[in-house]
Amino acid sequence: MITGGGSGIGLGIANAFAARGMKLVIADVNEQTIENTVFELKQNGVDAIGVRCDVSKLEDVEHLAEETLNTFGGVHVLCNNAGVGLPTSSRSIKLEDWKWIIDVDLWGPIYGVKVFGPLIEAQGEGHISATASMAGLISANKMGAYSVAKHGVVALMCALERELRSKQSPITASVLCPGPINTNISHNSLAYRPERDPTLAPPKVSGAKGASIQAALEEGMPPNEVGELVASAIENDKFWVLTHPWWAKGVQRQLDALRDDQSLTKA
Ligand SMILES: NC(=O)c1ccc[n+]([C@@H]2O[C@H](COP(=O)([O-])OP(=O)(O)OC[C@H]3O[C@@H](n4cnc5c(N)ncnc54)[C@H](O)[C@@H]3O)[C@@H](O)[C@H]2O)c1
Repeated sequence: MITGGGSGIGLGIANAFAARGMKLVIADVNEQTIENTVFELKQNGVDAIGVRCDVSKLEDVEHLAEETLNTFGGVHVLCNNAGVGLPTSSRSIKLEDWKWIIDVDLWGPIYGVKVFGPLIEAQGEGHISATASMAGLISANKMGAYSVAKHGVVALMCALERELRSKQSPITASVLCPGPINTNISHNSLAYRPERDPTLAPPKVSGAKGASIQAALEEGMPPNEVGELVASAIENDKFWVLTHPWWAKGVQRQLDALRDDQSLTKA
């Protein structure tokens, strides 16, 4: 079961799972991308269904679980992947945007763990993954709301992993922390922004920060490669899934500065 499975990294994960013969539930807020994705998967012989689900709504996530169980009778892998992001200043970002980003990026995975966790545990086998970001390990300039949500996702998954290991659960967990990946997240996020008039075309990516993020995404890792990393982490029981592991040096520099001079400037 993959949230945000109709596009980008979620679709890459779906492709990696399909290549391993898994049955798939593609959950997304965008019905058109669900339809296209499920059609293509079925064309390739994959047993897949699509469910419209807004991960920021508990009742939608509960409905998703019902549909999954009704169709396949169980769920073995949950990927809390759906997400949105805007390059915005923590001081001037609108409160509606704060709430939307936290609701989708953090409450989505919280609801996923809450609703699907007991189902997977009751089966006695399975895996729970969540897509955070390198912004869940280091807070970047003008990425305040996104970083708050993604730090929360990392904390959620670390806590979950420790709980599972402390009771020697057969359930495993992982957290994906991607660097730049070549997806449509900037355009999609602008299209889903809560205060946007849906009758108008979504605005284009703008501003220096928006343009630099867009350029980095376009040169980023292909989503299918990320899907393979996630599938391989599940197969090999790896908790941290980093697409750009050398970026972990930035995390280390932040920790060194914390220990040595308590500044944030070295990160
Ligand atoms: N692209 C990157 O460089 C990058 C880097 C780090 C982390 N991420 C994270 O990866 C995840 C996937 O992003 P992506 O880059 O593939 O973007 P994407 O826009 O291609 O895919 C995100 C999917 O989530 C869906 N979605 C958005 N809001 C939703 C909601 N409320 N409920 C259900 N589905 C919703 C979208 O329709 C879309 O299909 C996100 O959590 C994102 O924060 C992406």
